[in-house]
Amino acid sequence: MSGQPLQEVGQSHIPVMVSEVLEFLDVRPGRIYLDGTVGAGGHTSHILAALETSGKLIGIDRDEEALDICRNRFSDASSPLSLHHSSYHTFKPILDNLGVDQLNGLFLDLGLSSLQLDSPHRGFSFRHSSALDLRFDPSQGQTATELIEESSEKELTKIFRDFGEERRSGKIAYMIKKMGSIATTDDLQEAIRRSTPPANRNRTLARIFQALRIAVNGELEKLSIFLECFLDSLAIGGRVVILSYHSLEDRMVKHAFKSLKQQDKLMILTKKPMIASEDEQSQNSRSRSAKLRAAERIA
Ligand SMILES: C[S@@+](CC[C@H](N)C(=O)[O-])C[C@H]1O[C@@H](n2cnc3c(N)ncnc32)[C@H](O)[C@@H]1O
Repeated sequence: MSGQPLQEVGQSHIPVMVSEVLEFLDVRPGRIYLDGTVGAGGHTSHILAALETSGKLIGIDRDEEALDICRNRFSDASSPLSLHHSSYHTFKPILDNLGVDQLNGLFLDLGLSSLQLDSPHRGFSFRHSSALDLRFDPSQGQTATELIEESSEKELTKIFRDFGEERRSGKIAYMIKKMGSIATTDDLQEAIRRSTPPANRNRTLARIFQALRIAVNGELEKLSIFLECFLDSLAIGGRVVILSYHSLEDRMVKHAFKSLKQQDKLMILTKKPMIASEDEQSQNSRSRSAKLRAAERIA
């Protein structure tokens, strides 16, 4: 992580739609919240400030490097933050261990952080030469290289088409299989270079890296499990706020909220997804694709 002190590293990731997130989460001192994707602690720091040292904030991330940043950033012993290396879709055992029955708010900021994207050794970006890993949690599961090895051309085409919305998915998958081993970000870049025209190449690269990341980390499966189970742990009057950056994720959140609304369990607070202001979009490119949906448990 470029030799920068950990505290400063954390502060170089700009959190998205902070004031909207805080308003919808309705953070009040003494209450209990879950930040299921703490990352560099951007939103976490604002939630903690609103808690005013009372109550509790349970923070989860799959990435130990992100958790280290947060441990350094929020090392004050009086902090009500409790950090856990896990996936947000399995938050329930963490609550049980902490003796927490119900939450007043649940927050997810999906996808990857700028720190992960900028990390030279994780394989998240085609801008760095490294092993093609792409795991949020490098201690578990298959790397992108292994996934590519084990997938057929047809399966790779589907991954690129479904998760990357890439028109030339078939050609790229064919070239990847033809080249054989795709051990590094440079190998993948070469396969894409050989199978697609140069125009808009960076966009094609970004789409393929995104698609592989979503597949490697099982991102949609985890979101789906979370959406099926979160309500039981949310107190009546409690809020759920989700920031997503991919149309498939946003659609899943929309449908889950709608279904719970039809069961008279949830009140939707965002009829349409909220997007970042023009100002924010011009200052933070990551915010451009963000969609925020929020809801309150009513029964
Ligand atoms: C967009 S970043 C969060 C940024 C954070 N809100 C901030 O402002 O600093 C997303 C984070 O979610 C983590 N993540 C992705 N999938 C996860 C999962 N299933 N469970 C927990 N963390 C996950 C990633 O490792 C990454 O650190």
